[in-house]
Amino acid sequence: MKVAVLGFGTVGVGVYEMLAKAGGLEQGPVLVRPGKNDKPFKVTSIEEIVDDPSVGAVAEVMGGVEPAFTYAAAALRAGKHFVTSNKALVAAKGPELDAIAREKGVAFLFSAACGGGVPFLHNLAIARRSDVIRSLGGILNGTTNYMLDAMQRLHLDYADVLADAQRLGYAEADPTADVSGLDALRKIMLACAVAYGTLPTDGLLNEGIESVTAADVAHFQGRGYTCRLIASGGSTEDGVYAYVEPVLVRDGAAECSVQQNFNMARYEGACAGPIVLMGQGAGRWPTASAVLRDLSGILRGERDMFPEGVRRGEVDNSVCRHSYYVRLPAALAGELPTVSAELEGEIARVITEPLSVSQMHFAAERLRESGAEVFFAALRE
Ligand code: HSE
Repeated sequence: MKVAVLGFGTVGVGVYEMLAKAGGLEQGPVLVRPGKNDKPFKVTSIEEIVDDPSVGAVAEVMGGVEPAFTYAAAALRAGKHFVTSNKALVAAKGPELDAIAREKGVAFLFSAACGGGVPFLHNLAIARRSDVIRSLGGILNGTTNYMLDAMQRLHLDYADVLADAQRLGYAEADPTADVSGLDALRKIMLACAVAYGTLPTDGLLNEGIESVTAADVAHFQGRGYTCRLIASGGSTEDGVYAYVEPVLVRDGAAECSVQQNFNMARYEGACAGPIVLMGQGAGRWPTASAVLRDLSGILRGERDMFPEGVRRGEVDNSVCRHSYYVRLPAALAGELPTVSAELEGEIARVITEPLSVSQMHFAAERLRESGAEVFFAALRE
């Protein structure tokens, strides 16, 4: 099967090179921006791919919703299988693309959009056919894991570790999506849609690591905690929940062994119990390997990851409760229901009573409206 590649950046180059060696797959044309077509295999218009009958599948690794959606829809309508690493695209337009693919009888697969090289969505899509997925999530962003790990183990500053993650090709073109938790949120949206047939769009909450400081990290470390950015999703009798927030885990917890750009994805099946998958969550070769996994899957007859009829829905994040560590101006410490507080000059580090995820995220939003600098992380004992 000849595969056209849309995009020739970090992941695109990896996909193109892997295609040369993969069984049953063949390098096709690569779509690049006008002026960047310095080799015969590079083309600058999507029509050259969509109208080429020798192309059997299109792998999109450009990122962004447009023009990726227009190109994806055109490729599917032309009867080509479509594989993508683009979580922004699938989070925004996944149900529409799934419907077109089903109508045309071709594949729409996006394993690489969540977990880099870790076969998380792939396994979820298989597991949900025979088991009930109770909860899912984990460390799903390689950039922030790399940053938090380097801040803790190497005692580096936030700005330096972010620059390193960008240089290593882990971060998104705009790393705000990584550090704000939006990238992990998009991934948990996809995982929920694969497991439950509901793509959560309303009620989602995400807190990133933008406000963490070296002093916070040293404080956690001194008390036997490690900070990780964790995405959580699940299904209860009341519906689906999905959120992202920093979490403090006790030293020795499995998450502490997740270093550098690695991800740790997990799900719990009602019958299977907890399943954990770990591997590199970002970077050229891990992500390209996931694209190739989907393309090889097409050769074996794989066609979909979403359940048929996947639809958008609301989540309820008031059903999950934790105690939280909160660093905020000392003058505002009384705004939260606290069980303990440590004062350091103008700063307070408090542990709250158990709060729902919604209560904590909205409380931080209110505190920040008054100009306060706040960092919070859920406590997992
Ligand atoms: N920026 C993403 C990450 C790339 O750091 O996880 C892989 O999705």
